Amino acid sequence: MTGTARIAVLTSGGDAPGMNAAIRSVVRTAMARGAEAVAIRHGYEGLLDGDFLPMELGSVGGILDRGGTFIGTSRSERMFSDEGLALAVDRLEEHGITGLVVIGGDGTYRAAEELHARGVKIIGAPGTIDNDIDATDTTIGFDTAQNTICDATSKVRDTASSHERTFIIEVMGRSCGMLALYSGLAAGADCILVPEVPWRLEDICDSVAQGTARGKKHTIIVVSEGAAHAFGLAEDLTRSCGHQVRAVVLGHIQRGGSPSAFDRTLASRMGAAAVEALLAGESGKAVCLQNADMALVNLADCYGHNHEMKRHIYDLAMVLAR
Ligand code: F6P
Repeated sequence: MTGTARIAVLTSGGDAPGMNAAIRSVVRTAMARGAEAVAIRHGYEGLLDGDFLPMELGSVGGILDRGGTFIGTSRSERMFSDEGLALAVDRLEEHGITGLVVIGGDGTYRAAEELHARGVKIIGAPGTIDNDIDATDTTIGFDTAQNTICDATSKVRDTASSHERTFIIEVMGRSCGMLALYSGLAAGADCILVPEVPWRLEDICDSVAQGTARGKKHTIIVVSEGAAHAFGLAEDLTRSCGHQVRAVVLGHIQRGGSPSAFDRTLASRMGAAAVEALLAGESGKAVCLQNADMALVNLADCYGHNHEMKRHIYDLAMVLAR
């Protein structure tokens, strides 16, 4: 690479706690390495609109502990058309960008792969509470979201126990049950429903009945939004089990809040690793956490596969729930 490197960063798709820490790391690592740093606002939409913001060291001060993404994000339909992709390439050239870091999930990586195929130097960093990116042990935001769910579940359990009720807690995860699985295990859910494992109403009723028979004062069912909808399931269970079942949908509070120490550290490491990869001439890859170390994996190997279901974690949760 000749001349001064000019590294841009954007966040895309659903926001995740820790994205700010990743942006901060990209900007400060780039500047420490003598490169210029630029933020692109509102994700790929901002890229297409030419919404570029030059960064200084102070531009990313005071954001490490803040949830969301201070540069904004979007889900961009335009990036899935040839015209949109061509415009994105033009915009990056206009602004003299020599390398781009994209922080996001599945959809973010698909567009990144297309940009890479069109000659853009690009590296992905996995930012999503869903933890549905293959090849990385975990994603930025997953840990914080689990903590949010655990906290909410404890509160629900207090009231469930007082009224001796069954509660269904619906968590995010359209096609991937990782969030329900891990937070269900950590929160001590009595039953966990994920899209990857078929379930039957009769089995849930049986497990509620068994718990009640051995003196349990409450039943907590954590369900991934991709497996069932809490309110519909509550009605079905009320009918089948013969007692009132309540539903709570945690919704977007799972995406907000100050990132955990784990997510801040992970995001800081990933942001820096992405910049180092670009400066080393890498492109079309994503930074991943593998066995506690940073690894670089082809973007194409990071999305679109059936996410491996952690069956042993599911089985463990079921054993401990009895
Ligand atoms: O992709 C992350 C995610 O949190 C999914 O689990 C969820 O289905 C989706 O975002 C909802 O996003 P939005 O309401 O922003 O479209």
